Amino acid sequence: MCGIVGYIGKRNATPIVIEGIKRLEYRGYDSSGLAILNNNNELKVFKKSGKIIELERSLPAPDKTAGKIGIAHTRWATHGKPTTVNAHPHTGCSNKFAVVHNGIIENYKILKKKLESEGHKFKSDTDTEVLAHLIDHFAKKETDFTLIVQEALKLVEGTFGIAVINTDYPEKMIAARRGSPLILGIGKDEYFVASDVAAIIIHTKKVIYLQDNEIVTINRKKFEITTLDNEAVKAKISEIDWNVSSIDKGEYKHFMLKEIFEQPTSVRNAFRGRLVDKLSTARLGGLAMTGEELRRIKKIQIVACGTSWHAGLIGKHIIENLSRVPVEVEYASEYRYKNPIIPEDTIVLVISQSGETADTLAALREAQAKGARVFGITNTVGSTIARESDGGVYIHAGTEIGVASTKAFTSQVTILILLAVLLGRMRNLPPTFGTALIKELKNIPDKIQKILDKDEEIRKIAETIKDSSNALYLGRGANYPVALEGALKIKEISYIHAEGYPAAEMKHGPISLIDENMPVIAIALDDAIYDKIISNLQEVKARNGRLITIATEGDEFIKEISESVIYIPKTIHTLQPLLSVIPLQLLAYHVADLRGLDVDQPRNLAKSVTVE
Ligand code: G6P
Repeated sequence: MCGIVGYIGKRNATPIVIEGIKRLEYRGYDSSGLAILNNNNELKVFKKSGKIIELERSLPAPDKTAGKIGIAHTRWATHGKPTTVNAHPHTGCSNKFAVVHNGIIENYKILKKKLESEGHKFKSDTDTEVLAHLIDHFAKKETDFTLIVQEALKLVEGTFGIAVINTDYPEKMIAARRGSPLILGIGKDEYFVASDVAAIIIHTKKVIYLQDNEIVTINRKKFEITTLDNEAVKAKISEIDWNVSSIDKGEYKHFMLKEIFEQPTSVRNAFRGRLVDKLSTARLGGLAMTGEELRRIKKIQIVACGTSWHAGLIGKHIIENLSRVPVEVEYASEYRYKNPIIPEDTIVLVISQSGETADTLAALREAQAKGARVFGITNTVGSTIARESDGGVYIHAGTEIGVASTKAFTSQVTILILLAVLLGRMRNLPPTFGTALIKELKNIPDKIQKILDKDEEIRKIAETIKDSSNALYLGRGANYPVALEGALKIKEISYIHAEGYPAAEMKHGPISLIDENMPVIAIALDDAIYDKIISNLQEVKARNGRLITIATEGDEFIKEISESVIYIPKTIHTLQPLLSVIPLQLLAYHVADLRGLDVDQPRNLAKSVTVE
């Protein structure tokens, strides 16, 4: 989704902000642009539809783009097509200000009409341009740059993260936020503004996470944060603990592949320090709940979007199974508007890799408004969801850059397994089972590695399905949401239409789609329902469907009915999803790569969806 980078300091801003927005490419975008105040204090704006490389190609000679203060943007179209005119930065009639904006100005139509009636001429179809004209409007009445922006923002309904520069104040940049993340990076005699840490991590690790309704005025040597109502704010400087290699592809062709291969480590990091061997249980200190409070939980509502929602569905199976605490799983976008019923002694778990997904954040606030305790399971330290939750657990997966989530998913599932063990052991889960689970969880990273070692084999299978138009993914129990996740992965990055189904449900509809062209990817592991799923797969076979199965090592029979088999190591039922999803991630990756697609930045998708 849209990205913002700003620079003010002694260096040339242009290469810095361009490098910054390149670091944000992974978030998904369809046009880009930048504005600088050059050394003659003129405002220069450059924009281009398409990739940042197109913007770079369209730039004039470096001396024509030089300046010590600049803002840049990657736009993910919401209002108006992804054209050059609609790209940010936007300027008003005076051409003194340039603004970049993330979020949505919901009352832009009313504001635009009013401004037009006052003579303002609009160039684009965007909601953002309204902001540039509003700033122009207030600049006629007010001279202080910060006050001008404050006045403009007071009229805005909706969400924003913005950065503004102004020819009248070549020593100042203003940034503000409501609903869309924005950080201030603090360097030595230089400052950065960014919507995402990744954009500026190579320059500084000292940041301030702006809070909603805060505005920062940055001079070259100092900054001041206030609320939009001009009250002083004492902000906390945080130290980012990422290293730069986490935003580098290293030896891998794509970030997604790198992240798939990081899973032995990321899963281990998710459970590290959280297993209590002696008591056969788990510890999740971030929940900050007493034993008594944990025992009192009667229901859990899990709220999330996309891949995180799939992790939630797996969590439901495992938590209910181990602890007998009923779990409901809801799409955040539905939950927030349905006036959710949250009975007493219910806890709400929001799951979000980015910690910034607009719908998930709104669901969190809705649950809190109803008096519920809300816990966040996120990957992003300092994210809005992490800050606004009543407690939570970091999954410690490390930066995830590929739009299609992989390692965050397995880490989320790992945390949900730990929660299931914790709640289960406080109820009826016997210590013997707790011990067995913990012991086997420690084996999972090595077992994931064994599946990753089959990468070549999986690529060959991907060759056989890469030209398909459709695919069906089947699983049962906790492997049904894994099938959903497998289908989502291939859809996201290879644009093959795919659906996930509970295997037995296939005969109630999708079976009509099965013919010799339809790959059916089925998870059929050695457990109590193995025979049941085999019967479902026989139905596919009987209709000449092409069966690709994920099976347990040693299962010879499955070969008889499958076109291809990907064997995975045996594990206990509860932990199966952590293994069964790995071949599906690799399959989706290779299909997309073989189709020659942009795996890390699939069309139309955004990594962090900060609009509803
Ligand atoms: C977007 C991403 C998905 C992600 C979903 C939820 O759609 O492309 O990969 O699963 O958002 O994101 P979150 O950060 O809340 O987990």
